[in-house]
Amino acid sequence: MIIAPSILSADFAELSRDIQLVEQAGAQWLHIDVMDGHFVPNITVGPVVLAALRPRTKLFFDVHLMIKNPENYVTVFAQAGADLLCVHLETLKNPKAVFRQIKALGKKVGLAVNPDKKFAAIQPYLNDLDLVLFMSVWPGFAGQKFIPDILSEVTKCREYITKNSLSIDIEMDGGINRSTALQALGAGANILAAGSAIYNAPDPAAEVQYYLGL
Ligand code: DX5
Ligand code: ZN
Repeated sequence: MIIAPSILSADFAELSRDIQLVEQAGAQWLHIDVMDGHFVPNITVGPVVLAALRPRTKLFFDVHLMIKNPENYVTVFAQAGADLLCVHLETLKNPKAVFRQIKALGKKVGLAVNPDKKFAAIQPYLNDLDLVLFMSVWPGFAGQKFIPDILSEVTKCREYITKNSLSIDIEMDGGINRSTALQALGAGANILAAGSAIYNAPDPAAEVQYYLGL
């Protein structure tokens, strides 16, 4: 499994320090939540912040784009240092065109879905994807409560991936903590994004190490 600490719960005045902290603890991925105030009722960081952080860390940049019209921004986020660009199904007018665009930029392709989506909505796109991200909270804010209803859809997705010998990661994002992490992994996720559970813990490095040991 991979733990992807989310910088949404880091100290934004000390981002570089907080990123190095989880990198030194052994995390391989960093989850970067990009919000535009339109698709979600919150605003976070844009490409200038990614570009500034890129030379400070070797962590894989798992960029979660919670923005409208992502096709207009994937190029600039790729240039800023994203390794994976995850776009929301709810924002896509022509999903396959956007997946092709991300692939052509040499980046991994992720598809995120809100917690009300069923696996059937994702299945037609699986051949174009490197990762599926199931939101286990409504996107917009850290520190919300895990929505367990999505677990059965994660399991359907994992079963389909296994049956068809596909190489696709499943990430869960939102409300992950020591107890919901076990449910997520049990359902078939192999990547966990976690914000408050790591950065609000008394010892964030120890928390990263706990998840790495699962
Ligand atoms: C929410 C973001 C999540 C958030 C998770 O919209 O996509 O990545 O940072 O925060 P926690 O782990 O606190 O739910
Ligand atoms: Zn996220």
